[in-house]
Formats: sequence, structure tokens, C-alpha cells
Amino acid sequence: MEAFVEAPPCRCCLRLVVGMMVVMLLLLGGWCREATGLVKVPPDLKIPAVFVIGDSVMDTGNNNDLVSLAKCNYLPYGKDFKGGVATGRCSNGKVPSDIIVEELGIKELLPPYKDRNLKTQDLLTGVNFASAAAGYDPLTSQLARATPMTDQVKWFKDHRKKIKGIVGDEQTKFIMDNSVVVVVAGSDDIANTYYGARVRQLQYNVSAYTDLMVNGASDIVKGLYEVGSRRIGVFGAPPIGCLPSQRALGGGIQRKCAENENVAAKLFNSKLRKRLEQLEQSLPNSTVRYVDIYNPLLDVIVNYKKYGFKVPNRGCCGTGIIEAAFLCNRYTPTCPDVQNYVFWDTFHPTEATYRKLIPPILQKYVDDYARGIR
Ligand SMILES: *[C@@H]1O[C@H](CO)[C@@H](O)[C@H](O)[C@H]1NC(C)=O
Ligand SMILES: *[C@@H]1O[C@H](CO)[C@@H](O)[C@H](O)[C@H]1NC(C)=O
Repeated sequence: MEAFVEAPPCRCCLRLVVGMMVVMLLLLGGWCREATGLVKVPPDLKIPAVFVIGDSVMDTGNNNDLVSLAKCNYLPYGKDFKGGVATGRCSNGKVPSDIIVEELGIKELLPPYKDRNLKTQDLLTGVNFASAAAGYDPLTSQLARATPMTDQVKWFKDHRKKIKGIVGDEQTKFIMDNSVVVVVAGSDDIANTYYGARVRQLQYNVSAYTDLMVNGASDIVKGLYEVGSRRIGVFGAPPIGCLPSQRALGGGIQRKCAENENVAAKLFNSKLRKRLEQLEQSLPNSTVRYVDIYNPLLDVIVNYKKYGFKVPNRGCCGTGIIEAAFLCNRYTPTCPDVQNYVFWDTFHPTEATYRKLIPPILQKYVDDYARGIR
């Protein structure tokens, strides 16, 4: 009987011990950080975990079991991934979610929240809630049957409870205070819902539609703050008109960049930047940052030779003009020299492009955090 009576306090002890061990692991992780990457993380800057809310640029496999066309879990996707397997990542190899955790010295890959084999260490060092084809406009996720951004935040809330169950209140607060949350969306709103399906064009002009998107983004940031996140980075839209698929749709016979989509992306970005500044002011202890991806990616596309690329306007999969998602499949031939391509399919950059884009951006924010701006 004695043993049974004593069981509850022991469980508490156990949790405390596990909690302390985990914190030690996280701190050790920090010391071992002068890893292989290009990003320099000062040893006193603790980033215990990374969480991601977003779309197909970031998704690492959450859509695999969904009835959706927005999936990338078949070859040739993943052909240059470790083992040559298609995991649901919409590129030939790693995607930015992975590169971010790798560069920060946290782990090799950012697993999808839906992965059934997540280990305790994975739960604590970050998971990915992104769902390919999701957008700030709820209609975007609905059209593609992706997991809406608001539901991704709900997943995060559930996930936080799991973390609390493992390490307790205090350590959960440490993880939430210091982890980085990255939000990436907007391309599918502009490319698919507004200029593709055109449903929204009947209801909104570009100005009103980008307002709707910014309001969506703002709700996501507020939702994340309520879950407990404090370091939040929100990517702006890329130069959407220069994605190969959009050149085909709106770039004329010469397949130039579709100017109207770039204008929409820039308008969205300028409004988003302002709104995020306001949010940072109004949410105590938060660091809410706008992350410019428009200019860095445009620079790669325009000055592709400087970055070692040869083909900036076509994807490697198929003709490179129309193939993305299900149109890029096991029957589609791929280019033999993917290292020369900025884009993998007509919508998604190659791993090589991501590897050029992400580290300098990350370094900038790491330096900010290190300067004590949380
Ligand atoms: C866009 O729509 C809004 C609201 O419907 C309207 O107030 C605004 O004048 C329109 N802008 C342009 C440039 O047409
Ligand atoms: C902000 O940080 C201070 C100092 O760590 C803390 O006392 C306060 O409770 C925090 N406020 C919020 C809303 O997180």
C-alpha cells in the first residue's frame, strides 16, 4: 500500500527531473551550436525551439493524409532529400523550416505536427504546423482543402499543453518566451485565390483584398501571442509575379514577371510591415518582425548568375512552365542539372535557392535577438 500512496509525489518528482534534464539538454544544445551552418548564434542567446505556421513553402508533410491536391508526397518531390524520399516537402530537398532549425543548431529537420512518431525531444524543440496551400484568406485554405491558418494556431495551443505535460509550467514558459515562431503565407491568396480562381476579384479590388490578408495575418499573430509566443517573425509575400507559373499566366508570350501580381505583393507587404509594427507596440514583451523575402528572392531571380544559377524563369520539373503539385509527378521528366535552377517546380524554389536565401535573413534576426531586443 505504501508504494501506492507515495506514487503521486513520485510522479511529480519524475516530471521535475525530466523537466530539468530537458532544460539541460536545451542548454547543451546551445553550447554545441557552433555547428555546420552559416548562421552564427552567440552562446548566450537561447532559442530552444522553432515553430512554424504557414503554407507549402514551409510544410514538411502535414497534408499527406488530407484529401487535397496540395500535396508533395510523391516523386520527384524529395528526389534530393536524404534517402531520395518524398516526405510532403514541396521541393527537391529541404525546405526553409528545416534550414532554419539546422542553421540555429537545433536539429536536422522540422517534423510535421501530424507525424505520428514524434519523440519527446521533437515536441520540445519545435514542430511544424504549416499546411500546403493555406492562406490568410480563409477561402484560400478552403478551396485547396488545406488546414486553415487559424486551425494551425489551435494545433499549437494543443501542442503547448503537451509540452506543459512533459516539462511543467515554468519550463513551458521558458520555451514559449524564447522560441521563434515563423509565419509564412500570402502567395496562395494572391496567386491562387485572387488571380487564379478570381472569385475574390468580384468582391474586392487589390487594395481591399490586401487589407483582408493583413487582417488575417494580424489575427494569426494575436492568436500566437495568446498561446504564449513572444518572438514572432512574419514573412512578407515573395515576388509572386516572377514565379514561373505566374509568368505563364500573366507574363505574356515572353513570360515576363506578371507585374500586377508583384504590385499586389508589394502593397500587401507594405501594409503588413506597418501592422506588425503596431502589433509589436501593443503586445507586451513581444518581438513581432516583418521579414522581407521579396527583395532577396527578386535579387536571386534577376541576378541569378551572381548566385551560380543558370535558369531563373522555369522550374526543373517537366517543361518548367506549368508543372506544380500534382502536375509534377512520377511521370514528369525532370532536368538533369537541378543545381542550376532557381525553381524546382513552377511555384517552389529549389533547396539550393533556399540555402542562399535563408541564412542571411536568419542572421539578421539572430543578431537582433542577441542585442537584447529579446
Ligand atoms: C477599392 O474598394 C474599396 C472598398 O470597396 C473602395 O473604398 C476603394 O475606393 C477601392 N479602391 C480603388 C483603387 O478602386
Ligand atoms: C513582461 O516581462 C516582464 C519581465 O520579464 C514580466 O514581469 C511581465 O509579466 C511580462 N508581461 C507579459 C504580458 O508577458
